[in-house]
Amino acid sequence: MLVIYESMGGNTKRAAELIGGASTFLGAETTVCSVTSVDLHALAEADLVFVGSWTDGLFLFGQRPGRVGRFKKLPWLDGKHVSVFCTYALKAGGTVGGLSKVLSRKGAVVVGGQAIKRTELDAEHIGQFVADQFEAFVQQAATTAA
Ligand SMILES: Cc1cc2nc3c(=O)[nH]c(=O)nc-3n(C[C@H](O)[C@H](O)[C@H](O)COP(=O)(O)O)c2cc1C
Repeated sequence: MLVIYESMGGNTKRAAELIGGASTFLGAETTVCSVTSVDLHALAEADLVFVGSWTDGLFLFGQRPGRVGRFKKLPWLDGKHVSVFCTYALKAGGTVGGLSKVLSRKGAVVVGGQAIKRTELDAEHIGQFVADQFEAFVQQAATTAA
């Protein structure tokens, strides 16, 4: 498992670390890295990749993934199963959808995603998200194999 994050103020980094912790707890070998220094070996090995950003916008409208250009520079994702997340303050709008689109264009198979409020960056909320995404991944992988 790999977690890739973009963070300006630390919230999304914290979300990524909590996702990594939950993933380790569920028994997966896990690496967490910034979008600007992706561990390519871990990327090649990962069955599921969590990718997350912060929400940029005008707070009530125009939301998009923060520094989305950094995600466009990721290597080709070649059928990797990806789960998308973002952190936000008031309204995440189309941030998860926008990031999903960017990653799909890179060849990723998006399993699911969630916007996480910055006041809910705790093990309980994030553990539930990670468990749900693991389940969605297993179901999707089974469908693809069938
Ligand atoms: C320039 C800027 C624009 C933002 N626009 C929005 C917004 O439109 N909606 C929202 O809910 N949060 C918005 N936020 C809040 C951040 O998305 C939120 O605090 C996030 O958790 C920051 O993550 P980080 O600490 O990893 O950078 C904005 C923050 C910044 C710096």
